[in-house]
Amino acid sequence: MCGIIGYTGRKNAVPILLDGLKALEYRGYDSSGISVFQDGRITTVKSKGRIEENEKKVNNEYPGLYSTCGTGHTRWATHGEPSDINSHPHTTENVSLVHNGIIENYAEIRSELCNKGYTFISETDTEAACLLIDSLYRESHDHLTAIKTALRRIKGSYAFGIMFGDNPGKIYAVKKDSPLICAVSEHGAFIASDITAVLKHTREIYIMNDGETAELSADSVTFCDAEGKHISKSPEITELSMEQAEKSGFAHFMLKEIHEQPQAIKRTVASLILNDITSYTAPGLTADRIKNCRHIHIAACGTAMHAGLVGKYFIEKNARIGVNVEIASEFRYKNPVIDKDDIFIAISQSGETADTLAALRLAKESGLFTIAVVNVKGSAIAREADGVIYTQAGPEIAVASTKAYTVQCCTLFMLSLLLGYHRGLMTKDVINERCRLLTDTAPQKINDVLKDSDKILSISKKIAEHENIFFIGRCIDSSLACEASLKLKEISYIHSEAYMAGELKHGTISLIKEGTPVIAIITENTLSEKTISNIKETASRGADITVICDERIILPKDVCSNIIYVPHIDSGLTFLTATVAFQLLAYHTANERGCDIDKPRNLAKSVTVE
Ligand code: M6R
Repeated sequence: MCGIIGYTGRKNAVPILLDGLKALEYRGYDSSGISVFQDGRITTVKSKGRIEENEKKVNNEYPGLYSTCGTGHTRWATHGEPSDINSHPHTTENVSLVHNGIIENYAEIRSELCNKGYTFISETDTEAACLLIDSLYRESHDHLTAIKTALRRIKGSYAFGIMFGDNPGKIYAVKKDSPLICAVSEHGAFIASDITAVLKHTREIYIMNDGETAELSADSVTFCDAEGKHISKSPEITELSMEQAEKSGFAHFMLKEIHEQPQAIKRTVASLILNDITSYTAPGLTADRIKNCRHIHIAACGTAMHAGLVGKYFIEKNARIGVNVEIASEFRYKNPVIDKDDIFIAISQSGETADTLAALRLAKESGLFTIAVVNVKGSAIAREADGVIYTQAGPEIAVASTKAYTVQCCTLFMLSLLLGYHRGLMTKDVINERCRLLTDTAPQKINDVLKDSDKILSISKKIAEHENIFFIGRCIDSSLACEASLKLKEISYIHSEAYMAGELKHGTISLIKEGTPVIAIITENTLSEKTISNIKETASRGADITVICDERIILPKDVCSNIIYVPHIDSGLTFLTATVAFQLLAYHTANERGCDIDKPRNLAKSVTVE
């Protein structure tokens, strides 16, 4: 949700913090700020708007600002509108604090502190934590004691970066249910919400666990556990490169990430199959467990949930196991009907989504075997699931998920083959053939769509003029329609709805009038005639039809005004080329409308609050 960076070392912290914030901006971008030690006190500069706004403020109002220690924050507002005052860091005479997460009992803490004479200036939950630590420090005169005592009082989720005015050069970091890493470079130590913020300086990373406290100074990082005992942690050397975190000549991260899909699929499949598909498994997902499983529950949010719908289609088809796909925020409160032999799958690109994490925890408490399909190594969901299957999309920076979705779908497809194998429904030969399709054929065919995107660009110019659009499809194509609709909405701000093609006539068709754009997706060969009938029903009522269609399906001439033929891939895998087509359509449409594609309004990449 929000992005945190902290640096203490031998270089000027100001440009390092601003640069780190730019790398984290995808996590939230309605306001930002930095705090640094200067002339024996903490100076805080913060402002509403993008990082550039705050950078201008630093340069104009604090020219030559120099410090070797500081923290920074980029915000996605929860409590209180985006404004200078509500931005982080929150700073008192003694304490400066940056926060990612939500403090659930902030109102209680706030009223206690008001009774003690404190005055709040912001509407945020975070200020309550800042002032609480301030008051506890006044009592104990001990930095760590003040932090530990505050944490016993605070309910909710947090990653905190904390500095004390009388302790220059030192940063404290703690976390619970929000991500935070520490890192050490040749010139200093860092805290950050994720690795991309420090990649320019180091690849040596420490992933923090809930309850741990880190104490950073220019030369070292030390850790202690929840009881305050010193612990030794070994650094991990990240495989991520700067190139992966940069646009590399593309106009937007989203476009770069769409183009990265062939390689991402190859990497993901290769990492899963090793020598033999049947050896591909998440730890603990034994043949017996697969045979005994009667039901699978998938929980995820947004695009990851849409990947779950594609996974449901393949698992039911290839393994004949019933699958429930749940929106994670609903799963945890709906008292789900589950059996001890059921398997639970959490899908998440970031591995930090609060709702998905909570659903996973509920499934574990209920005694289910849990698998996580996650893109970010060492993330909370990956660590907490019984078994983890990592997708190999590489860092996904654009808020709109593209490559993470396709590799999630491919991973679930592979999982469906494995489940089918252990249930006696798939032979090794068939499975090997499907894997070959994924590693060789699919990337080539996706490249063909990417090379030939001019037609999509020209259709997007027309779509861009509308404010209401419908996506329709049947079976797997209705799941694709959901994702196509979300993609278009979130980056172009065009209202759109996804419908199962056969359902439209049960009410929604009343919204179709002369010129209403309807985009139909047809990759499901066996149902093409049915979908074409539904297309005709809307065309008869004036709809302007675009069809994204498997090249092997022959469409009647009079059925639509635009056709985007996509390359066929056997075994139901044409959904991959259709996906790339609708991603490009959304991208070009948003671009046509002049939208901020990588940072759509009101959104953030990683949603670490409920
Ligand atoms: O990191 P996750 O996969 O758990 O994120 C889930 C959703 O927040 C995410 O897919 C969101 O819907 C994207 N912005 C869609 O493009």
